[in-house]
Amino acid sequence: MADTSSPVVLGLPETTVVPDGIPALTEQTRTEVREIIARYPRSRSALLPMLHLVQSVQGYVSPAGIALCAEELELTKAEVAAVATFYTMYRRKPAGTYHVGVCTNTLCAVLGGDAIFATLKEHTGLTHNETSADGTISLEHLECNAACDYAPVMMVNWEFYDNQTPQSARALVDALQAGNPPAPTRGPSTLSTFTQISRVLAGFNDGLGQQGPTAGTPTLVGLALAKERGDVAPAYPTPADAPETES
Ligand code: FES
Repeated sequence: MADTSSPVVLGLPETTVVPDGIPALTEQTRTEVREIIARYPRSRSALLPMLHLVQSVQGYVSPAGIALCAEELELTKAEVAAVATFYTMYRRKPAGTYHVGVCTNTLCAVLGGDAIFATLKEHTGLTHNETSADGTISLEHLECNAACDYAPVMMVNWEFYDNQTPQSARALVDALQAGNPPAPTRGPSTLSTFTQISRVLAGFNDGLGQQGPTAGTPTLVGLALAKERGDVAPAYPTPADAPETES
């Protein structure tokens, strides 16, 4: 039986070169890639979680990761790279242990998101999509996180930190850099690292999904009002409601 911890052997030698400090993909990675593929009736549907799995090992979608996905799905590397570069959740350079996202979409921006991002740029010396030299944090400005009711909102490793200010954002980043991450505002009671969260996004359960509140009071205001007023959604039309068409 193959040693699952041995580096994965890929078709093209240049794709196996791994930068210093980045763990190599292993035969265990290939086994888990195949486990993901087996979940889907069409193999190429597995590509997105496969890319998250690569990130869970290496902290980004490396050339070796692209090659492994292409090999297992019988796609070209260009096809895999086209997907990996389309979605912004896939990093093209190693992310920090804590990937800090600041929403600068319209609502968050006007309520302070732009000021928060400017503050963090100045405080960390990083700009969009940069990682600190010690690998602790990376910074990104994000589009809408579907959390406008808590604007301005930040995410660290895709967990929410709601109702931020430049001061609280600076304190959050200081805590992350000190290796003492505070609990997210909603969701689990501890913050996982970027690679740990990437493994969850690849579909490997970390058992934390049921922790903490999800929809909070601001999110449920509309529902509460609708119930209070007795509002109901109109019924879906049935085939009998469809207008007759001339044959
Ligand atoms: S605009 Fe920031 S979460 Fe929607």
